[in-house]
Amino acid sequence: EEAALSSSSSSSPPLGSHYIGRKEDIVRLGRVTRLVDGSRDVLVLHHRGQLYAMDMRCYHAGGGLQNGDIEEFNGRSCIVCPWHKYKITLAEGEGLYQAVPNPTARPLRTEWRSKGVKQRVHQVTEVRGDVYVTLDSRAEEVESDRYQTDKYRTTFCNN
Ligand code: FES
Repeated sequence: EEAALSSSSSSSPPLGSHYIGRKEDIVRLGRVTRLVDGSRDVLVLHHRGQLYAMDMRCYHAGGGLQNGDIEEFNGRSCIVCPWHKYKITLAEGEGLYQAVPNPTARPLRTEWRSKGVKQRVHQVTEVRGDVYVTLDSRAEEVESDRYQTDKYRTTFCNN
């Protein structure tokens, strides 16, 4: 079923949303990047039947997430930044880190924990095969915001 493939589906694009492209093209390419609303570089990707959107440049140091692999950590799908391998959950933009709950135990065990939301994620809507992104408007600063400036837009020409 068409509707089951995207984050949300409705009969008309949400107010203030921005057209990204045809779903079949995004599915075929796996990922696309767009300058949305003339102000924000966004990565839209398709993974296991779901569409996701997030800021394109990694919250750590601005690495281009469009070149990252997708891997599962604790059952959560993450994009792995190609620069320093930070893991970011696709659905929430949480940064994951590997914790050592008990440093004296042998064998040493590690587990993946969340640092909280570090990468701004955006809402994806599909309307009859057209994909739209609504930029996240939460007021609190998210670490990835700092790479959404003209400085980084012109420094990293990786579209
Ligand atoms: Fe992404 Fe460093 S820039 S991990």
